[in-house]
Amino acid sequence: MSDLPFAYTVPLPLAIPSRQDNHIQRRLSALKGQFADAAAYERLLAEEDRIVYEVYEIQRPHVEGELLTGISIVHPGKVGAEFHMTKGHFHTVLETAEVYVVLKGEGFMVMETPEGEAHVEPLTPNRVLYVPPRWAHRSVCTSRQDDLVTLFVYPGNAGHDYGTIETQGFRKLVVEDANGIAIIDNPRWKRA
Ligand code: F6R
Ligand code: ZN
Repeated sequence: MSDLPFAYTVPLPLAIPSRQDNHIQRRLSALKGQFADAAAYERLLAEEDRIVYEVYEIQRPHVEGELLTGISIVHPGKVGAEFHMTKGHFHTVLETAEVYVVLKGEGFMVMETPEGEAHVEPLTPNRVLYVPPRWAHRSVCTSRQDDLVTLFVYPGNAGHDYGTIETQGFRKLVVEDANGIAIIDNPRWKRA
């Protein structure tokens, strides 16, 4: 018997999908070592292990031919000068792409290849972002009050490699400086 087509809605402003099989909450403690300002990170963590972002996944088999969809919600906030962000990852099957549709909020997608090529793309409502195969990706919320809400679609067999980014970080950081939002080089980035 074949699967039946299905649909779900994503009512704003909360963006909690009407169908959801898995709800992930990533707290500050899960992002250890990722923010540039380690002292600010430790200070904030001592105050509260706050939720930095959440993901609602629609479950499908993790096999080629399937598409995995869901909603990613990055809450507003900063650690030191750096805006809230996802852990970020390469796909384990490097040759798999991903599409993001921005439903709400403002921010950036920080991306890079294993060879160290970097690209940062603005995320604004109704913008559609294509992340090609081989590009690691991390969403950053720069809204002051609003969540950054994106819908994502990627191949069922992609898998997630978090380790590479945990070790080397991304080349680019999104921070607030005296002039506003700035994209700067990560002083701690090192080629794998
Ligand atoms: C899936 C994907 C998104 C992210 C989500 C959370 O391949 O890119 O669904 O998983 O935005 O970010 P991570 O997975 O980096 O914690
Ligand atoms: Zn991905």
